[in-house]
Amino acid sequence: MYADIKIADDRPVYIQVKDYMKRLIRRGALQGDQKLPSTRELSALMKISRNTVVTAYNELEEEGYIYAVQGKGNFVAPGAAGNVSELSYEEGESGFEDDGGHIDWRQRISRYASEAERLDLMKRGIRAEKGSISFTSIAPDEKLFDLHNVKRAFMDRMSIEGEVLLNYGYAKGYKPLIDFLLRYMENKGVDLTGKDILITNGFTEGFDIVLSALGKSSGRAICENPTHNTALKNMKLHGYSITGVDMEADGIDLKRLETELDSGEFDLAYLVPSYHNPTGIVMSPEKRIETIRLLSSRGIPIIEDGFNEELRYSGSHVAPLIASAGRSNNVIYLGSYSKILFPGLRVGWVLADKELIGYLESIKRSRTIHTSTLDQSLLYQYLHNGNFEKYLKRAKAEYKRKYELAIESCKAYLPLRKLSGDGGLHLFIEFDETLPTRILLEACTRKGVVFTPGDNFYVEEGQGRHTMRLGFSRVADEQIVQGIRIIGDTARELMG
Ligand SMILES: Cc1ncc(COP(=O)(O)O)c(C=O)c1O
Repeated sequence: MYADIKIADDRPVYIQVKDYMKRLIRRGALQGDQKLPSTRELSALMKISRNTVVTAYNELEEEGYIYAVQGKGNFVAPGAAGNVSELSYEEGESGFEDDGGHIDWRQRISRYASEAERLDLMKRGIRAEKGSISFTSIAPDEKLFDLHNVKRAFMDRMSIEGEVLLNYGYAKGYKPLIDFLLRYMENKGVDLTGKDILITNGFTEGFDIVLSALGKSSGRAICENPTHNTALKNMKLHGYSITGVDMEADGIDLKRLETELDSGEFDLAYLVPSYHNPTGIVMSPEKRIETIRLLSSRGIPIIEDGFNEELRYSGSHVAPLIASAGRSNNVIYLGSYSKILFPGLRVGWVLADKELIGYLESIKRSRTIHTSTLDQSLLYQYLHNGNFEKYLKRAKAEYKRKYELAIESCKAYLPLRKLSGDGGLHLFIEFDETLPTRILLEACTRKGVVFTPGDNFYVEEGQGRHTMRLGFSRVADEQIVQGIRIIGDTARELMG
């Protein structure tokens, strides 16, 4: 005891001594009213200065862990010493003695939690060995992050209103950011009449809040097939039965969409019209108009996921659905800077009908009160300082090069049947049906290359077994070529 303390370099030593002593007291290794070593003895045992021990003892006394008796020394406070269940944890055979305080949580969790765990791809996902070439991520390349501008934005905002930022904020969001985003969306052609914005923790929370807000009648949701796995997961968790509509080269198959819509009622539609995940397809302007018409005429709310809109490398600008919908109030737009800026900030927004935003605001308040004002204000100041345009230009140049290299390599090395991806950070590949990509993945993993099998993104189990998504944003140029060549060689070996 005492001499086994391990002092780390990056924390004040007196705090480490204090924590070490607290642990001994809580665990019952030191009993109530037991005398502690003198400051001189402890400093010798721990090989630290006596002053450090004095400070640690003073704070332990202030916090009620020990008490001092003049002329006699320091003693463990009786109430602070370890209790029975903490002791039994140490002494039990399997590390725990069942004294009634043990719960088998598997028997107690909700259906929601058990489904969330079952659908959690990160827990059952692809394990990439260190050093392997991984095409699984579609996150931005952190090497592009302009940290100096982010730091400056932080300092700028803190010096303007640091005290305000550190206190509670508003559920709806940080006002300067909301105003900025309203202008940003107006510039995309959105008619803001009767609309408002709620700030959320990225797209994912916004989607969850919207799903919580909408009442269920048929319990059915319609979306593109394949689609964003997290969205599928959340719709399932909210109890929706999901109908997937196949994709064509220019977006959702309108004939099938119409047939499905005629087959019964739907409570909502979830669509990713630009640089769709996982296919990378951009829905044509004509299809956008027709999709809105088909859904609007049936009174179906459209949840539009605009996550990747800015990552256009060629072709002309395509307006989001919410812009094409004019003054109609049935499109709920979910925006996020996760792919174009910093996903770690967890800031996204919902742009929708004012009345609906009012309900979403109350749900947000009841769940998390508000998105971190520090994150929101940092993002606001970064955007306000004009960094976004410069960053986007640089990032797009970098991603465009990788995108073209990945397309070129896929065409050169993969025995593919179909390739899609009009921009963004990933490509989607379809092989012959005789080549299941899970088997291909297994073989490629052994050669140090991993990718995401496409079946993860399909509505029904068993669909898309011969497809894969290749995320290239965080892969170096040479590795893009090398990795795709390995996938191609392996696919040919398996196809015989
Ligand atoms: C289709 C789609 N929407 C939105 C997001 C971004 O989600 P978030 O803003 O919660 O990070 C992603 C991220 O991969 C995505 O693929």
